[in-house]
Amino acid sequence: MEALRIYTEKPYQLQGEVIISGAKNAVLPALAASLLTAEEVHLTNIPLVKDVQTMLTLLAELGAEYNLKKKSIAIRTKKILSEQAPYQLVRAMRASILVLGPLLARRGRAVVALPGGCAIGTRPVDLHITGLQRLGADIKIEHGYIVAEARRLKGAEFEFEKKTVTGTENLVMAAALARGETVLKNCALEPEVSSLCELLVKMGARIDGIGEETLRIRGVEELGPASHRIIPDRIEAGTFLVAAALTGGDLVLREVEPAHLQALVDRLTFSGARIEKAGRRSLRIIGSQEIKPQDVTTAPYPGFPTDMQAQFMVLMTQASGTSIITETIFDRRFAHANELIRLGASIEIQGDKAIVRGRTPLSGAEVVATDLRASACLVLAGLVATGQTTINDIEHLDRGYEKIEEKLKTLGVKIDRLKNNNNHRMGAKHE
Ligand code: UD1
Repeated sequence: MEALRIYTEKPYQLQGEVIISGAKNAVLPALAASLLTAEEVHLTNIPLVKDVQTMLTLLAELGAEYNLKKKSIAIRTKKILSEQAPYQLVRAMRASILVLGPLLARRGRAVVALPGGCAIGTRPVDLHITGLQRLGADIKIEHGYIVAEARRLKGAEFEFEKKTVTGTENLVMAAALARGETVLKNCALEPEVSSLCELLVKMGARIDGIGEETLRIRGVEELGPASHRIIPDRIEAGTFLVAAALTGGDLVLREVEPAHLQALVDRLTFSGARIEKAGRRSLRIIGSQEIKPQDVTTAPYPGFPTDMQAQFMVLMTQASGTSIITETIFDRRFAHANELIRLGASIEIQGDKAIVRGRTPLSGAEVVATDLRASACLVLAGLVATGQTTINDIEHLDRGYEKIEEKLKTLGVKIDRLKNNNNHRMGAKHE
């Protein structure tokens, strides 16, 4: 098991520039969308993270051939060779569920393992299933697999009971090749959903209402080749913004989309940081010596992202007073709180709320990461915890952050990757 160790002899003040990678949550649906056509899809600004590798392994099993060079990929599935997403891959990455819609739409059959339990709540996929059924699919659950069949999907109206990001993406992809018009209501507004729709339009899909809650998709007979640039990762960018706010640093983030970061920027500004545009695709943040406490509630986009909740909690441990963080998207997404407490934080969990009492000095210890964003939160904590902080099981971190330790090193952080740190208790296997 690999670990990261951060050495904090004196307080860091992060300084410098960091280039933000392409969004993990945008590249995964874009890669899945390549299954919808026999032609080549070309994507640029690919983040080289573990989840991309897992998706490529899955797509290769389904018949895709690809050429990944630096940060660009040309991917093509001339013929679908298998319609099965095996449990091992779905277990390693829930987003594997994104092949369900495309396989069903192009091949007429998809067999995808049910994702099962995970470290951040139950996370069902019932809305993916009911939505596809509404488009005419016949779906059964057999031996832990979703078995979906449809000779050709038929356009229909469907309203999501709850906003779901990958659920919206699966339905849009399926509807793109369905016969007739589909109207999807209460769609997720996340920029990654819009980015997928834009790629689909380039491939020949007919979609109206991109960026809105109601999407109208007029199905076409087939889709064709396209080129698309992956949008910047707003969660990676957000993690670095918090790192600067936490350490009173002065950072410039390059290759970001400031509009996608508004909810977080508002909260950080309220906490005392100064954030300004430094060019069209750059932001500068200057942290303040005093961090103000505040209450934050996660919500679907454009609200405060659940994927930034853990990182924001670290910041609040250093604020001068009490904050209440409410998690409304996923239940049990507070595993990181226990690890922060081990570093010296004062946090009390009451149902969906974390009451964080600041400011508490943190001191380094061995901690274990239980999911992707919890790992990022612990890395941030290591920046302000005195002495050594060792974050174990960083395979979670590698799923979604590209070269995080290299990026932190350029900002002045002393951080090492330990190849075989087995000296710790076991963490949860997957999120
Ligand atoms: C995506 C993101 C993930 C982020 C999450 C919420 C990707 C690959 N992952 O995950 O990083 O944390 O959005 O912003 O884009 N739900 C149901 N039934 C369903 C589907 C979802 O009840 O069929 C519920 C979930 O349990 C959760 C809420 O809807 O409470 C939102 O989940 P959803 O948006 O689907 O999350 P993901 O798409 O899995």
